[in-house]
Amino acid sequence: MERKRTLVTAALPYANGPVHIGHLAGVYVPADIYVRYLRLKGENVLFIGGSDEHGVPVTIRARKEGITVQDVVDRYHYLIKDSFERFGISFDIYSRTTSEIHHKMASDFFRTLYDAGKLTQQTSEQFYDEETKEFLTDRNIRGECPRCHSAGAYGDQCEVCGATLSPDELINPYNALNGNTLTKKATTHWYLPLDRDEGWLREWILEEHKEWRPNVYGQCKSWLDGGLRPRAVTRDLNWGIPVPVEGAQGKVLYVWFDAPIGYISNTKELCDSHPELGSWETWWKDESTRLIHFIGKDNIVFHCIVFPAMLHAHGGYILPDNVPSNEFLNLEGDKISTSRNWAIWLNEYLDELPGKQDVLRYVLTANAPETKDNDFTWKDFQARNNNELVAVFGNFINRAMKLTEKYFDGKVPTTSELTDYDRATLAEFAGVKDEVEHLLDEFKFRDAQKAAMELARIGNKYLAETEPWKLAKTDMARVGTILNLSLQISANLAIAFEPFLPFSAEKLRNMLAMKTFEWNQLGSTDLLPAGHPLGESVLLFEKIEDEVIQAQLDRLARIKAENEAAAEAEAQKNWRPKDIKEPTTFDDFEKTDIRVGTVISCEKVKKSDKLLCFKIDDGLGERTILSGIAQSYPHPEELVGKQILFVANFPPRKMMGIESQGMILSAANADGKLVLTTVSASVRNGAQVG
Ligand code: MF3
Ligand code: ZN
Repeated sequence: MERKRTLVTAALPYANGPVHIGHLAGVYVPADIYVRYLRLKGENVLFIGGSDEHGVPVTIRARKEGITVQDVVDRYHYLIKDSFERFGISFDIYSRTTSEIHHKMASDFFRTLYDAGKLTQQTSEQFYDEETKEFLTDRNIRGECPRCHSAGAYGDQCEVCGATLSPDELINPYNALNGNTLTKKATTHWYLPLDRDEGWLREWILEEHKEWRPNVYGQCKSWLDGGLRPRAVTRDLNWGIPVPVEGAQGKVLYVWFDAPIGYISNTKELCDSHPELGSWETWWKDESTRLIHFIGKDNIVFHCIVFPAMLHAHGGYILPDNVPSNEFLNLEGDKISTSRNWAIWLNEYLDELPGKQDVLRYVLTANAPETKDNDFTWKDFQARNNNELVAVFGNFINRAMKLTEKYFDGKVPTTSELTDYDRATLAEFAGVKDEVEHLLDEFKFRDAQKAAMELARIGNKYLAETEPWKLAKTDMARVGTILNLSLQISANLAIAFEPFLPFSAEKLRNMLAMKTFEWNQLGSTDLLPAGHPLGESVLLFEKIEDEVIQAQLDRLARIKAENEAAAEAEAQKNWRPKDIKEPTTFDDFEKTDIRVGTVISCEKVKKSDKLLCFKIDDGLGERTILSGIAQSYPHPEELVGKQILFVANFPPRKMMGIESQGMILSAANADGKLVLTTVSASVRNGAQVG
């Protein structure tokens, strides 16, 4: 019988920076678990990866670093490829979209659609820099925000007021890279008319793939319900794959058109040099191939709608069977961000915590953001290592190995009669294989790892309760049985954890001197014959000390401080006064009774981080006023004796159990810090301001 054929792809990361734990948890670790599992089952699987080397992100990086785009993609392609390898992501190929094979594949793909009349053409006016002769992307256009009037808003968003913008709305738009003013110029692009695909896409996704994860299905549904519009598949850019059409000078394929074709090109590159794998076309065109895309949630529309529409328009290709997409992983409660350096970079992790690939794999899977966003914290990382990997898994293996060395000369002992407790233990672990398998088939990696970990818990509990070290003097036959059983469980662990923790599983197989292993042996209790000599025992996992964790937390604290300073500098730079309020009248102004008073005392209100409680001499007596400026005045006692301005005729108001009799006036600085208003020379308390 022919083996089942599965083609697994993992999103091609942009070669504009190293990969971080968010990428790993969202895409690469689950994809790797899945392919290792299929391989262990003896299925025919290819795991396709590579770098995404076109598009705007790599060009921005090049400008920032002052090097060529080619240098950027070379640097990060090899950095990423190397760190994936060190981390045990077992790609069959990791190539790049700048390869010759890919340029030809993507170019031909476009040309086929073009020749078959599957693309439409549209001309529109876009922002243009006459000096550099470039059309600009939204992000590279800046100008005054039409809403809050701060300077330096981007063509897609104002970062001061948060407004979503289009470049046309900016006041006095300019080129963000050189400050040049911009003009409008007509440009022509080719579009994939997705509106024509709505019918079959609805049927294919919403009817035939109800089994897709709810987050994926839901996103597709909302795109489809919102109505699909034609999408441009070309861009005015000088980096990318030239549009293979006469008169398209200076235009390249849009990165989201060429990148997914990279999966096909990389499959071809692999198969061309490995004839035993069969032709690339079998992998992409034979109906019996299952195609699975592992991606992050920001890629859903491209993999579930746009790329399938491209494949459909081209004809002859299979469509994905499933697109297991994850939500996002946060880091210590904050969104991971490449530009803000808020991340744990894989290459740095591998350098700083050598030999701990599996710890990170374990923690990322245990916290996999499968159904909702999740959080990575260093404390949790330490706790899971120390309390689960070391205290349960490692401890069990270590005891089984050491006791066998001590009492049986390192050879698997024979079993004698089983007790009821032995049988109960065996019954407990018999179901684990089916459970892990079922969960992996459904892409539930977090639960699958938990189920596999049950094996270690069962083993650990078994040794703790049978206490063979106490029986050694009286009943060696019983000790033999207990250790035999424990070693069989250990061998099961070595198989079950191969997809999840490949480095540790290999170590464990070496300790047990297991030559061959396959998924189907899981659940059996005679993996190691009596008399089988074990290998050398080593520690499977090591405790992680507080200092190691603290060093990582210190690093993050430094980055946070740097980011805050940079955000503040940016806010200062872009600050400008608010617009003058609507006209008012002297009579209206007169209604407000503003007076001078001297601060008698000032202290923080308990249980509030905002409020200060002022006692003011207002010339008539003493009045209490609460003011929300605690964060601007960390040493409120220093205000005692100062003369300040306050509104005297507001109705009293109770906050935090204290009655406030008025309002103290202050002005806000660019950084948001509040500054109290005062008088330029001493006046009598109670004097009116007007
Ligand atoms: N580079 C894209 C990202 O990081 C992913 C591309 S996936 C592919 O979001 F389908 F285009 F290959
Ligand atoms: Zn704004």
